[in-house]
Amino acid sequence: MLTERVLSRAVEIAQGSYFSTDPKPVGGLPGPVEGRPYMLYAHVPFCERLCPYCSFNRFPFREDPARRYFKNLRDEMRMIAEKGYDFPALYIGGGTPTILIDELCETIDLARELFNIKEVSTETNPNHLIPEILEPLKNRVQRFSVGVQSFDDGLLKQMDRYDKYGSGAEILERIQSINGFFHSLNVDMIFNFPSQTEAHLLKDIEMLKASGCNQTTFYPLMASRSVATALKRTVGMVDYGREARYYEILSRELSDTFEHATAWTFSRTGGGMIDEYIVDYEEYVGVGSGAFSYLDGKIFVNTFSLRKYGDAIEAGHQSVSLGCKRSTLKDRMRYRFLMDLFGLKLDKREFFTEFGTTPERGLFPEVSFFRVAGAFATDTAEEFTLTPKGRYLTVAMMRQMFANLNSLRDSARAGLPEDERQLLFGDGTPACADAACAVAEATDKPLP
Ligand SMILES: C[S@@+](CC[C@H](N)C(=O)[O-])C[C@H]1O[C@@H](n2cnc3c(N)ncnc32)[C@H](O)[C@@H]1O
Ligand code: SF4
Repeated sequence: MLTERVLSRAVEIAQGSYFSTDPKPVGGLPGPVEGRPYMLYAHVPFCERLCPYCSFNRFPFREDPARRYFKNLRDEMRMIAEKGYDFPALYIGGGTPTILIDELCETIDLARELFNIKEVSTETNPNHLIPEILEPLKNRVQRFSVGVQSFDDGLLKQMDRYDKYGSGAEILERIQSINGFFHSLNVDMIFNFPSQTEAHLLKDIEMLKASGCNQTTFYPLMASRSVATALKRTVGMVDYGREARYYEILSRELSDTFEHATAWTFSRTGGGMIDEYIVDYEEYVGVGSGAFSYLDGKIFVNTFSLRKYGDAIEAGHQSVSLGCKRSTLKDRMRYRFLMDLFGLKLDKREFFTEFGTTPERGLFPEVSFFRVAGAFATDTAEEFTLTPKGRYLTVAMMRQMFANLNSLRDSARAGLPEDERQLLFGDGTPACADAACAVAEATDKPLP
C-alpha cells in the first residue's frame, strides 16, 4: 500500500500548517451565523484510571472537583445559549461522561431546556454498563458509545484497563446484556496497538460481531510523542508500516456483518447510523476544559487547565484561544475535502455551491494526488467516492490530523501549572504521591 513518506506528504497537502503551536487567547467564541447548523460538544475530562496510550484531555477522577466542573459546564452552556446558538445534537465525550450520573443527567436536561436538542450521544467505559447508570440514561440518550479497545485480556492488561474495566469475557457479556437498550450502541476499538497481532485482531472482530452492537469504530492507534515514548518502554514501538494491512484485514472481516459508515466507523448492515459528528455537522461548539470548537473555518480551544477553566466560568466568561494560524478559503476547502471523503463521498455540486469553484480547480494538487494514488472509485461530474485504498488514505490522514491536534494539545498544555501538567502527560502519574491530593491542588485553589 502507500508508504509512510507518501502519506505524510498527503497529510501535509491536506492540512498545510493549519494548526497553531502557539494558541492565542481570544475574548470568547464568535456568535452563530444565521441558518447554519451547529453541533454542541461537551467534554468531561475525568477517568477512574488513566490509560497509558490516551492523549485526550483527562484527569484522575475525584468527586468534589468533578462536581464543580459539571456545574461550570452547565454555566458555560448558558453562556453559549446567550450568544444565540441553537443545536439539534449534543455529543458528550471524555474522559468518562458517566462518571457522576446525576450530574450528567442534570447537564443533559439543561441542554434540552436551552436548545432544541433532538439527539444526545454519550461515551462510557464498560464498568458503567450497570443498571444504576443505564436506567437514568434510557430516555435521555439515543446514541451510546462504549470504549472496549480489545477483548483480549493480555492487551487489556497492557492497556491498564483489565483491572478497572473488566476482562474481555465480562465486557462481552455486559454489552450483550444491553442490546436494544439505546437507539444506537457503538463499540470503540483500537487497531495497530504495538503488541497486537493479526490473530488478536481476528479474534477481536469475532467477539465484536458476537457482542450485538450495531456500530463499531476502529481507531488506528494515534500516538503523540509522549505516548509513543511511553509505549516503546513497555509494549514496543508504534509501527505505522503495518497499519494499512491491519485496516485491510478489519475491513474485509467486518464486511459480512457491517458496512462502512465512514472510513473507520462501521454500521451493522441495514442500520445506517453514523456517530461521527464531524461528518454530520461541519461546525461545532465545544464546551468544557480542553474542548475544541470549529467555527467559520477556525479552530478554537478551551483552556486545558481545570483551575483556569473553573475560575474563568465562575468569573462569567470563557477561557478560549485561537488554535489555528490562519483560515484561508483553501484551508476550508481542504478541511471539507478530507471530511467529505472520510464520510465516503464528496458531492461536487455542494462543494461548488459552498466555495464557488470545483474541487479540481480549487484543490488541484490534492485531487491530482488522490487520482494518482488510485483513491477514487467514482470520479464523475457529480461526485468522488473512494476505493479501499482511498479509504485507507483518509484513515491515515485523519490519524495524522488527530496527531497534529495532539501537538496543539501538547503546546496548549505546556503553559499549564506544573501540577496540572504532571496529571495530563504520559501515564498520568500525579506530581504528588496521592492522585486525589494532586487533583485537589489542580482544581480547588485559585490561580496564583
Ligand atoms: C477518548 S475515549 C473516551 C471514552 C472512554 N473513556 C473510552 O475509553 O472509551 C474514546 C475513544 O478514543 C479512542 N482512543 C483513545 N486514545 C486513543 C489513541 N491514542 N489512539 C487511538 N484511539 C484512541 C479509544 O478507542 C476510546 O474508546
Ligand atoms: S481511553 Fe482511558 S484515559 Fe482515555 S478517556 Fe478513555 S478511559 Fe480515560
